[in-house]
Amino acid sequence: MKATILIVDDEKHSREGLRASLEGDFDVYTAADAAGALSVLEADEIDLLVTDLRLGGEDGMKLIDRALQMPHPPICIMITAYGSVDTAVEAMKRGAYDFVTKPINIDKLEILINRALQERNLKKENRALRQQVETKFGLEGLIGNSPALHEVLDMIKQVAPSRATVLIQGDSGTGKELVAHAIHGLSNRNKAKFVAVHCAALSPQLLESELFGHERGAFTGAAERRIGRFEQASGGTLFLDEIGEIDTNTQVKILRVLGEEHSFERVGGNQSIRVDVRLIAATNKNLKQLVSEGRFRDDLFYRLNVVTINMPPLRDRKEDIPLLVNSFLRQFAKENGKPVRELTSEAMNCIEQYDWPGNVRELRTAIERGVVMSSGAKITLRDLPLSVRQQGKPGDPSARNLDPARQLNLHETESRIIARALEESGGNVTQAAKKLGISRRTVHRKLKESKEQTPPDGL
Ligand SMILES: Nc1ncnc2c1ncn2[C@@H]1O[C@H](COP(=O)(O)OP(=O)(O)OP(=O)(O)O)[C@@H](O)[C@H]1O
Ligand SMILES: [Mg+2]
Repeated sequence: MKATILIVDDEKHSREGLRASLEGDFDVYTAADAAGALSVLEADEIDLLVTDLRLGGEDGMKLIDRALQMPHPPICIMITAYGSVDTAVEAMKRGAYDFVTKPINIDKLEILINRALQERNLKKENRALRQQVETKFGLEGLIGNSPALHEVLDMIKQVAPSRATVLIQGDSGTGKELVAHAIHGLSNRNKAKFVAVHCAALSPQLLESELFGHERGAFTGAAERRIGRFEQASGGTLFLDEIGEIDTNTQVKILRVLGEEHSFERVGGNQSIRVDVRLIAATNKNLKQLVSEGRFRDDLFYRLNVVTINMPPLRDRKEDIPLLVNSFLRQFAKENGKPVRELTSEAMNCIEQYDWPGNVRELRTAIERGVVMSSGAKITLRDLPLSVRQQGKPGDPSARNLDPARQLNLHETESRIIARALEESGGNVTQAAKKLGISRRTVHRKLKESKEQTPPDGL
């Protein structure tokens, strides 16, 4: 596609002369005065404006000012009378690209135009690339505008470029994994891999070989040598999710990689392997407490804890809710091909009242459900999950009017919500988990925890 150029000159002769010389290489428009020029600029996207500084009684500088304020400002080149360098300099200060003096040397002007357009294309490309990178790796995925979230974003930007180990703590669904991704994406390791391991999902033996790999024949079933996650993440970032669940043996091995040696052996091997890996760990447990209970090594805790990011629960940053709702709404409306644009004020109130024990993940699932259930342009109260509707109802006795001492008991609140979800799903754990926006495993764990916490009847 040819670049578009607008020539503005009140002298017909020189205007048409320029048109004739440039027409071969560019799409040329002309205007005889500022008004004509502005109507062209408004109607078409013009890449480059060449204007005489004196347009009859009008000031070409004003035209340039106006052009530069447009949503897609053209590159501006002025034509000045011989000897009026001062005005030319003034115009460049105000944003014009360059100037040519009369009588115009067409070859020089063409070189100038081509250079300007080239620079501009480069800049455009750079901007597009930068945007791509930011969308893919950057902070754009982390939505929210609360002071608490801004603190997290600032921490991310600050620690990303370093090699420091980061520990991300926070309740389920607060966005820990998203933060880990953002740190990797903003680091100079972003060309290498981000490897995530969900530590709680594996038995101690499997976890060890998952992380460090194994040699052939290391244990029954180890038919081939396997390269572990540490090696896979070489040059990049290794994300250890739910690190609180790791057994002590593996804790020792991780400590060695984080220590001066930066090395480990594959399971069943004796060759020491060095890796350059940045470690990010996450947990929804209080690691310090696990340390004091003797369930987590204190030396590993201190190695991990170089920088800690605490993810605030959603109920402590309710300002973020409208932005998150809006973003999830658009996403799911598009995914489901539905014309939903907003929530009724009743539904929105309910969402703002609710406590969101499952945090952003639960909100996301609730909006997804709302979109799927909706039948018009708005999500209504009825489209929201029952748990949200019941507890989120303003003034609802079930959640709000409890004795405050009871309200503070998180475990109780959690088990009540889980019990209700199970009730609604007829005891189906998968459905209940989905409804709550947490994993089945978490439901099972919470059920177990709540059983352990509730003293048997009669005591
Ligand atoms: N600030 C946010 N903006 C947009 N989406 C978010 C935000 N925080 C979390 N999410 C979304 O919520 C869901 C849960 O986030 P994530 O998996 O990072 O949480 P988590 O803290 O790792 O939870 P868990 O402890 O249960 O593993 C994801 O779908 C994620 O994209
Ligand atoms: Mg997670």
